[in-house]
Amino acid sequence: MPAKKKAAAKKPVKKAIKKAPAKAASKSKKDAPEKKPAKSYQSLRGMKDILPGQGKYFMKTFDAARNVAEAYCYGYLETPVLEAAQLYVKTIGRGTDVVDKEMYTFEDRDGSKVALRPEFTAGIARSYISHGMLNQPQPVKVWSVGQLFRHDRPQAGRYRQFHQFNCEVIGTRDPVIDAELINMAYSFLKDLGIQSEVRINSIGSADDRQNYTIELVGYLRTKRAYLCDLCKKRINKNPLRVLDCKEPGCQEALEEAPQIIEWLSTASKDFFMKVLEYLDELHIPYVLTPTLVRGLDYYSDTVFELFVEGEEGSQSALGGGGRYDALLESIGAREPTPASGFAMGIERIMLTLQKMDKKELLDGQVLELSGLPERQFYFAQLGEQARRKALSLIEELRQSGIMVGSSLSKGSLKTQLETANKMGATHSIIIGQKEVQDGTVIIRDMDSGIQEIIDQKKIEAHLRKIMK
Ligand code: HAM
Repeated sequence: MPAKKKAAAKKPVKKAIKKAPAKAASKSKKDAPEKKPAKSYQSLRGMKDILPGQGKYFMKTFDAARNVAEAYCYGYLETPVLEAAQLYVKTIGRGTDVVDKEMYTFEDRDGSKVALRPEFTAGIARSYISHGMLNQPQPVKVWSVGQLFRHDRPQAGRYRQFHQFNCEVIGTRDPVIDAELINMAYSFLKDLGIQSEVRINSIGSADDRQNYTIELVGYLRTKRAYLCDLCKKRINKNPLRVLDCKEPGCQEALEEAPQIIEWLSTASKDFFMKVLEYLDELHIPYVLTPTLVRGLDYYSDTVFELFVEGEEGSQSALGGGGRYDALLESIGAREPTPASGFAMGIERIMLTLQKMDKKELLDGQVLELSGLPERQFYFAQLGEQARRKALSLIEELRQSGIMVGSSLSKGSLKTQLETANKMGATHSIIIGQKEVQDGTVIIRDMDSGIQEIIDQKKIEAHLRKIMK
């Protein structure tokens, strides 16, 4: 009876499907006004989709970040993407590119001024204070991964929405912590196969910088004519930023500039020497870089950046950080709360990994879109009953810890086995109507084509044997 019902039902359905569109089309041409296609949208300038083909680089980076952060006992912290705009103005500082030009600031519905976070540090410091983390054992060590927003001029490796892997240690002033952080950033890249170069400097305390700035401004005034327009403005607004301008004229003009390291107090000098000694102990090569001052106002003492080794003069740091001993007090901490941290740019690391994989690059975008995962095993099915059985068998395997590839929406065995090959499967598990009835599956060796029939209850054990 059911067989008859099926046969009877099949043909009319097919016919109905075939006929219906033709009728509708002829009617619509005559009577209905022509339907315009809906407007399509592009992502906003500087905001990129991370496509499935790139997703594996993102996940690889995320996993390496998690491994290193957890190894050093950092707790995961998430802060909101939206914060009071003033939080960033007070910490990153007026006169910096991030605050003056790049922040996405807008009025919330209640009239308050809010900003999309341009970085993690200020929000994490706010969280430390508002949750009374001062009462926890110090220092508090946290890591985060998430999106940041800066309205910068987009180019390869510089976007308006991007991700960072960020680590902060709050509640201690100890050079060993700075060395630990630099080691984490360096080792994280090394774990990903990226050999990096650490550039390091000390910008001393606020007093050291004030004395040095007077000297620097005096020097820069004598070289004003050689500086780029932006740096001419910076002489009065933010003279330290002139130091890391990459314009050739500015670089030349800076050749004889006074170096901040000579203006450090004994305490800051000793602190910096200790950081370097710890780095020597860790065998981390570093380049002393007297012009490195970083673009955010809150730093004091140690500052550092990491670049791909051998990319001389590169402007694109993979990451950077430093000590910020006065930041927390500037946003309400009741007592001195020294801190230090770093952030690594995930998109820049992904681009480096893609280049290392020698994938063809087009404007920083990898051309591969499919993002098919790699799988040792692939589950192919033929026919509706087999598809149903495959659904539950695949889930049973997943629960026992074996991930298999599949394309359940595909009917053709040939197409499925082609996908198995693309995923790099060594074996396919095949089920059809006959196997469903027999309670078996076929295991096919993708290289030799040799097939074995296995009881469905023994699939897991059989696959484990192959995995050995
Ligand atoms: P930052 O140097 O502004 O530091 O950013 C760190 C890293 O984020 C950069 O080295 C770069 O790799 C990446 N990055 C920055 N801007 C962009 C962009 N527009 N597009 C793509 N990647 C970008 C900070 O953010 C500090 N909060 C780091 C820190 C943590 N200091 C102490 N603790």
